[in-house]
Amino acid sequence: MIKKKSTRLILGNWKMFGSFFDNAYLLNGLKSVDDSFYCDMGVCVPYPYLFQASLFLQNSKCSWGAQDISFRTSGPYTGEVSGAMLREFGCKWVIVGHSERRLFHGETDLDVSKKIEAAVSNNIVPVVCVGETLEQYESNESLQIIEKQVNSILELDSSIVSKAIVSYEPIWAIGSGCPANPDYAQKIHSMIREIFIGKGVNNIKILYGGSVKPDNAFDFFAMPDIDGALVGRSSLDLEDFLAIASIKC
Ligand code: 13P
Repeated sequence: MIKKKSTRLILGNWKMFGSFFDNAYLLNGLKSVDDSFYCDMGVCVPYPYLFQASLFLQNSKCSWGAQDISFRTSGPYTGEVSGAMLREFGCKWVIVGHSERRLFHGETDLDVSKKIEAAVSNNIVPVVCVGETLEQYESNESLQIIEKQVNSILELDSSIVSKAIVSYEPIWAIGSGCPANPDYAQKIHSMIREIFIGKGVNNIKILYGGSVKPDNAFDFFAMPDIDGALVGRSSLDLEDFLAIASIKC
């Protein structure tokens, strides 16, 4: 088991939620994040709110990012948003290959790889999601499925891969209110880390996502290979998100 060394990272994924009015309350609260918080923090907001996030959060300890990126640089691609555009909004992070994009937009492992390259070439950190469905979990295929997703990322050059972050998000735990068992998540994280190390990438940060809440976050963060969380629902509640970020262990 390899001991984690990096600062914990707590990222919020707002998904398709928000309004200028509601965001203002959340973003104002996130401005209060100071050095007493035991982590780095950020929020990945819908595209229309990137400018608002940048206005509220500039010069704060909380960074911001997007939830998707085009793998193309520019051109007649209606609806797509390039890495260069995200960079202009000061994005530090972009979520890539979230299961909701794989499911509802047919994103493949190859698309995910191209998006990782697009992010890194624009100095944006790709937060790459991997995870198994309930069916795969119940038929004991989790390790195999996740290994395949991770190996696909590792086909990229290690100079690119080493700039990425991985988020393990069991699909059955997302939005269900039933998180993975922390011991089970640790087992998966440890396997992911070993695959990366086997390919010479030693310092990969691995987040857990799926029904993280203030009352269960400690148990995940206490695990040696869990470096933080990608938080959905609880990131829309200022008090809950700050409570998760302020956990010490
Ligand atoms: P929930 O925290 O709402 O389960 O969502 C997790 C997630 O999908 C983060 O990307």
